[in-house]
Amino acid sequence: MAVDVTTTDEWQALRKHAEAMRGTHLRDLFAADGQRGERLTGEVADLHVDYSKNLVTDETVTLLTALAERVGLTEKIAAMFAGRHINVTEDRAVLHTALRLPRDASLSVDGQDVVADVHAVLDRMSAFAQRVRSGSWRGHTGERIATVVNIGIGGSDLGPVMAYEALKAYRDAGISCRFVSNIDPTDIHDKTADLDPARTLFVVVSKTFSTQETLANADQARRWLLAGLDADDDAVARHFVAVSTNEQRVRDFGIDPENMFGFWDWVGGRYSLPSAVGLSVMLAIGPDRFREMLAGYHAVDEHFRSAPVERNVPALLGLLNVWYTDFLGAETHAVLPYAQYLHRFPAYLQQLTMESNGKSVRVDGAPVTYPTGEIFWGEPGTNGQHAFYQLIHQGTRLIPADFIAFSRPNHDLGDMHDLFMSNFFAQTAALAFGRTREQVEAEGTAPEVVPHRVMAGNHPTTSILAPKLTPATLGQLIALYEHIVFTEAAVWDINAFDQWGVELGKVMANQLAPKLTGPGPDLADVDTSTAALIRRYRAERGR
Ligand code: F6P
Repeated sequence: MAVDVTTTDEWQALRKHAEAMRGTHLRDLFAADGQRGERLTGEVADLHVDYSKNLVTDETVTLLTALAERVGLTEKIAAMFAGRHINVTEDRAVLHTALRLPRDASLSVDGQDVVADVHAVLDRMSAFAQRVRSGSWRGHTGERIATVVNIGIGGSDLGPVMAYEALKAYRDAGISCRFVSNIDPTDIHDKTADLDPARTLFVVVSKTFSTQETLANADQARRWLLAGLDADDDAVARHFVAVSTNEQRVRDFGIDPENMFGFWDWVGGRYSLPSAVGLSVMLAIGPDRFREMLAGYHAVDEHFRSAPVERNVPALLGLLNVWYTDFLGAETHAVLPYAQYLHRFPAYLQQLTMESNGKSVRVDGAPVTYPTGEIFWGEPGTNGQHAFYQLIHQGTRLIPADFIAFSRPNHDLGDMHDLFMSNFFAQTAALAFGRTREQVEAEGTAPEVVPHRVMAGNHPTTSILAPKLTPATLGQLIALYEHIVFTEAAVWDINAFDQWGVELGKVMANQLAPKLTGPGPDLADVDTSTAALIRRYRAERGR
């Protein structure tokens, strides 16, 4: 049985240090060190990361680094990159980093040349994308494709939709994408209502090709297409492609394996955007830009693989998250992109972080004795400022927040970007330093209002500033967060790569589905609350 990390000297030292840090204010830390804002920073690829406005001292960083060494972070990183089966509950390698290895790299895992496999699929995707983008791939009636509808859910949706939205400025072939994920019929209804079936291509994305939502949506899409074209099944081949690891099921659905792009069981759904799962993004921005995104990922992978912990930016940020979660009592973590195009980034991160680290047993099956997996949430600035920032500024909770921004805008309109960025800079400063009673009084504030206007400050933030939102910097950002998640899991000794918790609900939904529709259902095996709800539902549906 593994050692409980809380019993180690390194954990205990951090506990003591956290006690000693209580009452320390960021105002004092900055006053005591004129270089703090320059010093507590890191660079990874094009990302400048300023962590000076966090509740840390040099000693905190030293102690966290010691904890990382104690849990064998460096060895665990090496094991992942080498393709060891670190996803122990599924006995799989975890090799999303191999998806972005350059063509001349070499990596053989379980006897298979992974780099050759990855590039073979990338080449097929590129050739297909070129055909669709150039118009040489035509629909059943000879029309060019104008709209790609990605059908998938979870990792088969959140990555592609986030990246498509993030890189909208790079669309260059007149192809737009839509994303259908929810099994709520409203989703596919609304996303197809105004489309011309003759000019629509469906990309059905499912690692397992057994996900209820995706198969139901794909069935509906086929019905919609054939009705709209007044065609038979022959039309499917020109309007449906699949992305999956499961060729047999793709075939069973009626999609020709010629029109299937594969990936591998060593790619977790939430890590799969840089695989064929990103096909819709490639169709929109083109193969070259897609490869720039992969190169961005790879630059951060190389840093994570080789930089010593004290200069390893994803490792340091992961350790900071552990610091807040396990030593300072934070429960949530805000992600606040100052980039409208990143409006789906927090949602994407929710699956990446919470499906990965929402675990309560260690790798060896013993229960953890410490909090894991903080709750990630967020919205783009400045919208969030006018919604929930009040609670971060003056509420009672500790909410570490990541602020993400780009110096150069995708669209430069007058001085708008400067105004936008002034908010980015102002918010982290206001959160850190607040406004003292003396400052508020000096402004002539009525005495009874003074306590309401005092801002305690000392709210921790990390600022991530990149030159511009490009395919490369997007890849860098995603890889940064993937490796933050990895670092946390390494300390918590949990498996970040399985997701058994979501299985039970799926199984139960499949068991309950026939009871909603069939005649006189047997609800004896259903709990009384659920049975009563189902009876009411059936009555309201006239059954
Ligand atoms: O939500 C559970 C999950 O298994 C995710 O991990 C995955 O991304 C999603 O379902 C979709 O799975 P699939 O790609 O197999 O349809």
